[in-house]
Amino acid sequence: MECIESFNFQTGRRVGRRYVVVERLGAGWEGEVYRLVEETTGIDRVAKFYFPHRNKSGRAAQRYAIRLHRLRDCPIVIQYIYHDWCHFHKARIEYVVSDYVEGELLSRILSRQPGKRFHTFEALHVLLALARGIEQVHARGEYHGDIHTDNILVRRRGLSFEMKILDFYDLGRSNKEKRFEDVLDMIHVFYEILGGRRHYARQPAIVHDVCKGLKRTLIRRLFHNAGDLKRYLEKYGWDG
Ligand SMILES: Nc1ncnc2c1ncn2[C@@H]1O[C@H](COP(=O)(O)OP(=O)(O)O)[C@@H](O)[C@H]1O
Ligand SMILES: [Mg+2]
Repeated sequence: MECIESFNFQTGRRVGRRYVVVERLGAGWEGEVYRLVEETTGIDRVAKFYFPHRNKSGRAAQRYAIRLHRLRDCPIVIQYIYHDWCHFHKARIEYVVSDYVEGELLSRILSRQPGKRFHTFEALHVLLALARGIEQVHARGEYHGDIHTDNILVRRRGLSFEMKILDFYDLGRSNKEKRFEDVLDMIHVFYEILGGRRHYARQPAIVHDVCKGLKRTLIRRLFHNAGDLKRYLEKYGWDG
């Protein structure tokens, strides 16, 4: 199997019958992500193109498409549009098209904050929005597998953070352990956006009650999935 490390698609390149490349958005282990425009409508889309050696017999792309489709009712998940393949140097390249989401990466918003950290209440809003969104993914028996600040697109509206989660990671069949790993990842995001280890000791009680010093066994006693975390935040007893 040919080992392609980059497609390096240029702006204006046609993809299949309906899309034209706008720009490259990212490159990961499985493939590359490009912004495309649908030629007939001018609608922006995003496509993930799979490296053939990471997508033997087309299964990875198919699984990703089916997973997004199964989660189409979850507002935190980007909408699946289309799956197809194109040629690249005689290789068959599969790609999965989804909607293009306006927003800014959480990592980028964080880097603009004074001291590169959020206030407690802002961070709690971020965590609650994540927990509410991922709860629906977990309720459908699925998991994300790679939650971190570079995979969360945010649009701020009023007091709330509307978010979309990108880049589902395929770790095989969903189970309790993978859903718990999502919970740990969400708590790591919360810890990171509050300034990490340097500021942890001085954080208010709610932060310690949720983060538990990032100790898995302590966190597992409280939360098994995103729904547990969401309910905990919604019912938190401020007065002890
Ligand atoms: N549906 C989307 N809408 C808008 N931007 C996106 C979308 N999907 C990905 N991106 C942008 O592309 C970057 C890379 O995409 P991602 O799916 O995280 O792949 P990877 O991390 O493997 O490069 C993201 O960090 C984000 O900035
Ligand atoms: Mg990513």
